[in-house]
Amino acid sequence: MADPPFLPYGRQTIEDDDIAAVAAALRSDYLTTGPRVEAFEAAFAEKVGAKHAVACNSGTAALHLAMMALDVQPGDVVIAPAITFAATANAARFQGAEVVFADVDPDSGLMTPETLAQALTRLDGRRLRAVLPVHLTGATADLPAIHKLADDHGAAVVEDACHALGTTMAFDNTPERAGDCRHSAMACFSFHPVKTIATGEGGMVTTNDPALAARLALFRSHGITREVAAFTAPDISLDADGAANPWAYEMQALGFNYRIPDVLCALGLSQLAKLDRFAARRRTLTARYHTLLAPLAPTIRPAVVPSTSDPALHLFVALIDFDAAGQTRAAVMRALAARGIGTQVHYIPVPRQPYYRDRYGAPNLPGADAWYARALSLPLFPGMADMDPERVVEALKDVLSLN
Ligand SMILES: Cc1ncc(COP(=O)(O)O)c(C=O)c1O
Repeated sequence: MADPPFLPYGRQTIEDDDIAAVAAALRSDYLTTGPRVEAFEAAFAEKVGAKHAVACNSGTAALHLAMMALDVQPGDVVIAPAITFAATANAARFQGAEVVFADVDPDSGLMTPETLAQALTRLDGRRLRAVLPVHLTGATADLPAIHKLADDHGAAVVEDACHALGTTMAFDNTPERAGDCRHSAMACFSFHPVKTIATGEGGMVTTNDPALAARLALFRSHGITREVAAFTAPDISLDADGAANPWAYEMQALGFNYRIPDVLCALGLSQLAKLDRFAARRRTLTARYHTLLAPLAPTIRPAVVPSTSDPALHLFVALIDFDAAGQTRAAVMRALAARGIGTQVHYIPVPRQPYYRDRYGAPNLPGADAWYARALSLPLFPGMADMDPERVVEALKDVLSLN
């Protein structure tokens, strides 16, 4: 019998109608900005329950745009959790701001009101401009409490929701969706292939504030506007009668080219229409993992998800006591790969990376270190077969000698 196919830890689900949507866009007049960009933004805003959505070409660009929209400046401080992808913290550094890393809960990997409160004691008199909770794996922490703490310090909350498209929450029994910005100024998403929907590279910022939405759009495209009502320099933009010159545009701030092509928005629109199906499949596979892993506690436990959060998990993180199992994580990953099973580690604590260690030394972050020591992301993506979680858990038991 042939070996079963290699199971990566995550992968996109691209179907024939996605391909047809991209092909139709390629046959249209637009390769760069066209009607599908606005259509994707409108559909996304509607789907997550936000007033505005601004599309861009990566989750990293989304985070940087959010920092620019808030006018984060050199010398400001931004708080980000230690367990995240580097881009969360880097977005603050792009603006010259300094990052204070908050510790995380060791079992959920999330920044909590408690770890945020501890990070707030490390501001050393500097201005706190933003707090960036990361919805690691798609799970969300106590956002109302985090919002309150940030607010008390005059700082905005920007959600790194790159993992969290499809997540729902209930604080005070009110249903909420990740991206609806009830407890934040903005939320940032990524459409990198392993995320809940894919455009290849792609990102989105949602907000309920029209002024922030306008700034996001301005910085996305060189700081240039073509909106006549926004013009501030009549000498270059208007003719003698006061009408806008046909070629007029104004560069009003220093921005970037963070635009997402129309072709990718065609894919985004097609994928977004499948979000509910993808999310349901992720939830089903997650439930199966929980059932299969339950007998393996305490050596293996699924990462904890707060009871206020119902994520369409982007990653399934198992927390494994490698010492108790008498194995190194590297050996386990290699043995699983030899059995056709891909795994990954999310994440090396960002402040332990050389760039940040050289800048800030070695902060004491016991929760992040405890998470990092045990985390192993197992395969999770909508295209997995019903029996795949069983295959993964059987291989894990075999490799860890838990049979
Ligand atoms: C938590 C988090 N933030 C930000 C990013 C950056 O997104 P992108 O890869 O689309 O730039 C990622 C994606 O890998 C992520 O996982």
